[in-house]
Amino acid sequence: MADELIERRIELPGDGGRLRFLQPAESAELPDDGGVEWAPLAPYWSVLWRSGVALAAEAAGADLGGRRVVELGCGLGLPAIAAARAGAVVTAVDFEPEAIELLGRNAELNGVAVEGVVADWSDPAPLAGRGRFDLALAADVLYEPGAAAALAELLPLLAPEAWIADPSRPGRPPLADALGAEALGAGRATETSTRGVVTIQRFELGRTAAGG
Ligand SMILES: C[S@@+](CC[C@H](N)C(=O)[O-])C[C@H]1O[C@@H](n2cnc3c(N)ncnc32)[C@H](O)[C@@H]1O
Repeated sequence: MADELIERRIELPGDGGRLRFLQPAESAELPDDGGVEWAPLAPYWSVLWRSGVALAAEAAGADLGGRRVVELGCGLGLPAIAAARAGAVVTAVDFEPEAIELLGRNAELNGVAVEGVVADWSDPAPLAGRGRFDLALAADVLYEPGAAAALAELLPLLAPEAWIADPSRPGRPPLADALGAEALGAGRATETSTRGVVTIQRFELGRTAAGG
């Protein structure tokens, strides 16, 4: 874990209230307000990405009471924490152990519990083995080659619905194309919203043979 953590706060819209979170000091100034958001000098999990903030706002305004929610590639995990505050039972996943360690502390700081899991989204079996969720969330997870295909395979195994937030970086395909609607178990995009430069696409996910 980074030596120095600082506490930050963001205000969520509507009745979402304020989220408090600890963040490694070295990442707190990065970067995410220019035309292109990249943070080459810091571990990606430790940066406050616009997509994570936007998806947290989306979750905070949703009726999630009692729903089982999983967030993939959670990083600082603000959507997971916002969903838990909105009444969901939440699991958050990242392949960086430090992210999951800090997530537990940040959930506690906001008076909620979030189950943290260290896992790689390109290995579906351990995550699919945790049972079905009602909703999958993911923010800014499509930046590396192969991620879209791996997520398109995994998501229908996990949940019937997914909300994916993406910052629409220049030169990237539209979100639904990037994920490949056909690969999503014949799923389809149902609703799109934008928060600043971030697009949030809701997908209805088709059932796959493995998904039952
Ligand atoms: C750009 S960051 C976004 C973090 C957070 N979702 C947000 O929007 O603030 C991408 C996150 O995905 C995680 N990640 C990348 N590849 C992964 C994989 N194969 N399995 C699980 N997590 C992964 C990274 O560790 C990082 O936390």
